[in-house]
Parts: sequence; C-alpha cells; structure tokens
Amino acid sequence: MPALGVNIDHVATVRQARLTFEPDPVWAAVLAELGGADGITLHLREDRRHIQDHDLYTMKKTVQVKLNLEMAAEEEMTAIALEVRPDQVSLVPEKREELTTEGGLDVVANLERVEQCVHQLQQVGIEVSLFIDPDVEQIAAAKQVGVHAVELHTGRYADATSADEQQKEYDVIVKASEFTVAQGLKLHMGHGLTYRNVSKIAAIPDVCELNIGHSIVSRAVLVGMEQAVREMKALVTV
Ligand code: PXP
Repeated sequence: MPALGVNIDHVATVRQARLTFEPDPVWAAVLAELGGADGITLHLREDRRHIQDHDLYTMKKTVQVKLNLEMAAEEEMTAIALEVRPDQVSLVPEKREELTTEGGLDVVANLERVEQCVHQLQQVGIEVSLFIDPDVEQIAAAKQVGVHAVELHTGRYADATSADEQQKEYDVIVKASEFTVAQGLKLHMGHGLTYRNVSKIAAIPDVCELNIGHSIVSRAVLVGMEQAVREMKALVTV
C-alpha cells in the first residue's frame, strides 16, 4: 500500500490571491495529518507564487509525518533546503511561466548540476527523489546520480482523453515502474492524480509513495463549503 503525500500548495494559492493570512497551509497540513496523510509535500517556487519561506520553516517544526520539499535543483533552493532539512527533497524542473510542473526533470541533459545538488543534500542526511518522466533513460540517469527514489510523472496518464490513450500511458508507467524497481530505486508517483484515476496507479506493485495535491485541495473546498456557509449565515442572522 503506497504512502499518501498530500501536497498543500494550493491552499497557499488561495491565500496569496489576497496576500492575507488565510487559509494557512500549516493548518491544512495539520488537518491532512489528522485525515491520515503519511507525508506533507510543498513546493517552494522561485517566484513564491504559493508557498512562502515562512510556511516551510513553520512546517518543519509542526509536521509530524514525512516532510517532502519540492524544489528546483538550483543554488538558492539548495541553500534553503540545507538549512531547513526536510526529510526528503524532490527535485523538479521549474519554469516561471508554467502553471504547474509540466514535464519531468531532464536528468540526462543536466546530469552534473543534478548530481552536485543531490550530493549536497545527501551529505546532511536528506533523502532525494527525482521527479522524472516514465522513461528508461531518465531512470538510468537517476540511478547514476545516486538518489534513493524517483517520482514517475503520471500527468500524461491523468490527462488522457480516451480510454485507449489512458491505457497506453498506463502501460508506459507500468514498464517504467518495473525498470525503476529493477534498478533498486524506490518508486514514487504523482501529478494529476484524482479521485477517479488514482486506483489503477495505487495498485501498481512496489509503488511506495503517491503525491497528490490539486484534487485533494479542490475536494476540500467543496466538502467544506456547506459548513462554512452555515457558520456565516448564523453570524449574519441577527
Ligand atoms: N508531484 C510533483 C513532483 C509535483 O510537482 C506536483 C505538483 O506540485 C505533484 C506531485 C502534485 O500534483 P497535483 O497537484 O496534480 O496532484
């Protein structure tokens, strides 16, 4: 049974829409833990569009389950990670203009830079996972740089618009999973997973961590709406 890492970035997205203090992703992390999350995942982006540095520093003190920091393999983020020391860093690609992490990290093309970052993090005891496409060459490169895990990108499977296309992308993920396990790497997966499409992915043998964000935050907004309105209605009913 895979562990569930809950990505709380989009709680911060709502907060940043008003540059205020609510909703607080730290509270969301506590509630996610109460709901059974095995890990809390957060992405500190270069442009700080959602998670802020203080969220990360506070969560380091409050989160009791695995704290997984997603970040780009570059100097500023590496320095922050070395100071905060999350349990795990997941290295992701990062382009300012993208809406979310669109493709996997190109480890093959950035071997030296990734390797250097991985070693710096590992030296202080942080486990490192690389978010990559389900591609044999990328997995082999991940093995070469010495990480303990890879997170296979499930976005193409999630975005498939027909059953045939979804099955094709699923088969790609299964093949890549087998290769990952054969390399002795831990198998994580994430991106675009929802209440509808997660079961097939969770059933893949040896998958040990799933990171899911947008769909959980989306559902939380809706399942909490009725109570939130009821509470406000009581206040305005004078
Ligand atoms: N894993 C990684 C590496 C990601 O970058 C993201 C998005 O921040 C996720 C998982 C979660 O994706 P989603 O929000 O689509 O569930």
